[in-house]
Amino acid sequence: MPMTKSIVAFAGSTSSTSINRRLVLYTLREFKEYSVQILDLNNFEMPLYSADREKMIGIPAQAYAFREHMMQSDGIVCSLAEHNRSYTAAFKNVLDWCSRVDMNIYANKPMLLMSTSPGKLGGQGVLEIAKAYFPRCGAQIAATFSLPLFHQNFGENGILEQTLRTDHTAAVQRFRQSVESA
Ligand SMILES: Cc1cc2nc3c(=O)[nH]c(=O)nc-3n(C[C@H](O)[C@H](O)[C@H](O)COP(=O)(O)O)c2cc1C
Repeated sequence: MPMTKSIVAFAGSTSSTSINRRLVLYTLREFKEYSVQILDLNNFEMPLYSADREKMIGIPAQAYAFREHMMQSDGIVCSLAEHNRSYTAAFKNVLDWCSRVDMNIYANKPMLLMSTSPGKLGGQGVLEIAKAYFPRCGAQIAATFSLPLFHQNFGENGILEQTLRTDHTAAVQRFRQSVESA
């Protein structure tokens, strides 16, 4: 019997009504045969990173824990919220602290990297930033997907617009192949 693959997922948002979390949950429906864990960034809240604070308190346990989740997985699904064309402060703080544990945060795992926003660009600003930078943090980006105009394009049953739905399915497939072949 092949081992069940495990996926860890998170949204780059601390909002209780996060649309990125909704996109992640929808995406995870495609991985029913996998063992799936979704992290809540609120459980990784740490003091705002500063060099002085690091000297005083060391690296918080949550930073080690976040990286441990990545290391224990066979693949990572994430969707980043965009604030001012970049990461949310909450996500950037997790990234900063984790990078002090080890720059190889994503432990060379395949990643499905997504973003969504209510606007026409669907968080493509933060998606491009992450696409350029996450490989430096050990992410093997297998596929990317950006969902524009979330409130128009997403309903109770997921992505409504056919072209976007097809793009999402293709991205899921590419990621699945990377996980299966790793
Ligand atoms: C401070 C702030 C900055 C934002 N900047 C952007 C932006 O640059 N581009 C964008 O498309 N949406 C922007 N938004 C709207 C967010 O995309 C929207 O709040 C979205 O719901 C965030 O994702 P989440 O629901 O997963 O947290 C911004 C929202 C806030 C509060």
